[in-house]
Amino acid sequence: MAARGGFSSRLGFIAAAAGSAVGLGNIWGFPFEVGEGGGAAFVVVYLFFCFVLCFPVMATEIAIGRKTEKNPAGAFVALGYKNWAWVGKLGILAGVLILSFYNVIAGWAFGYIFEMAMGHFGGGEQFGAFTVQIVKVGAYGALFMATTAFVVSRGVSGGIEKAAKLLMPTLIVMMLGMVIYSLTLDNAMDGIRFYLVPDFSKINAGVIYSAMGQAFFSLSLGMGALITYGSYVNKKENIVSAAALITLADVGIAFIAGMMIFPLIGFMSGGTMEGAAGGPGLIFVTLPQIFGTLGSIGPLVGTIFFVLLCFAALTSTVSLLEVPVAYAVDELNIRRKRAVWIVAGIIFVVGIPSLLGFGYSDFFSTAFTTYKDGGTDTDFLSFVASIANDSILPLGGCMIAFFAAHIWKKHNLDEELASGSPKYKGSFVQKYMNFAVGYLAPVVLSILFVLTVLFKFFGISII
Ligand code: PFF
Repeated sequence: MAARGGFSSRLGFIAAAAGSAVGLGNIWGFPFEVGEGGGAAFVVVYLFFCFVLCFPVMATEIAIGRKTEKNPAGAFVALGYKNWAWVGKLGILAGVLILSFYNVIAGWAFGYIFEMAMGHFGGGEQFGAFTVQIVKVGAYGALFMATTAFVVSRGVSGGIEKAAKLLMPTLIVMMLGMVIYSLTLDNAMDGIRFYLVPDFSKINAGVIYSAMGQAFFSLSLGMGALITYGSYVNKKENIVSAAALITLADVGIAFIAGMMIFPLIGFMSGGTMEGAAGGPGLIFVTLPQIFGTLGSIGPLVGTIFFVLLCFAALTSTVSLLEVPVAYAVDELNIRRKRAVWIVAGIIFVVGIPSLLGFGYSDFFSTAFTTYKDGGTDTDFLSFVASIANDSILPLGGCMIAFFAAHIWKKHNLDEELASGSPKYKGSFVQKYMNFAVGYLAPVVLSILFVLTVLFKFFGISII
């Protein structure tokens, strides 16, 4: 059996898991989803999903991981339910798919550090010209993947935990600095109003489905990333309070990202908030233009922003790579270092069509497919993202919750959650966990999963 390793402390685990959760999903994804979803109304639905549904699923994932000390597929087998291993395998597949496109965006962010430092603030044109320079962008992506692989190859406490403990606090300090700056700009308050004052008429089925996908993606749930990290956690840790802290950290950082970006858009648009619905290009197109208006400090602010984005992305790519690597180490008995480089290489190759789909190859660009949901033209990267984030993750979360409560059984879950938490049994939290994991999550998530797939891929809208 190859050695697995483990976290050295409670703080190390929380930093690593929060590092997994906090990533491009918070700083790149959340603001653009808020922008497209009509502002504060999306935020309200999103918060509901995070705290009411996702938090119990998170505690459950960590408990399954800690109980079994296994990767997501091996965990179901270790509990004695071999025919549930497909849920774990589906999660590992989602991890491979997510990392394949995630690394492309992380590679752009990496490249944008240099673009900003050189004072290139050309917005859409610059972004279009950047993404088609395939050798350059490919090299940035390869470097990012290699950095991820390097951290993962150093193991759980020496690599993953150390990187997270250093990068997470730095990220928070840098972001707070940017928020203070944004708030001093003209029309900042128009941005804040768009972001924080909800207009409930904007909530529709599409907003609900995207908020659900975003919540799962942002919290790294539904694919067993937290089963994997849970497998390195000590029996004395309090899982429920750790899950609460991780959820709060993730939601908190997404919130801060919004506080940083919407005032900037308010400033840029002269208060009209035009450009807020910029889609995935939002931070690569709109933000650089904004940095360009800042005069001599523009390059510095821009460079800091993208350094920060890379920090956030790295602790997430590390957790994404760790999932298939843990599988290779546990189940295929491959040495960690070797597993890391092989898996990273494969995932980089899987990501190549996503890399090509921003203008270089017409086939993989927006002509790749058209959703039936009203005809959104979609590139390969966004297509893979919606399969993984909006479909597989909620399905995985639903299955994990159902499994824990009804197959593995509630009392076993309770037993694991109570280890390290003497007051858990008989508490309100326990009652809520039982209700949420046993009924709320399986029912709501299975319905939303079916509705999302019908709507997005088949154009059938039931509600
Ligand atoms: N939570 C990460 C983000 O918000 O950027 C992305 C992610 C990491 C998703 C790890 C899933 C995962 F297992």
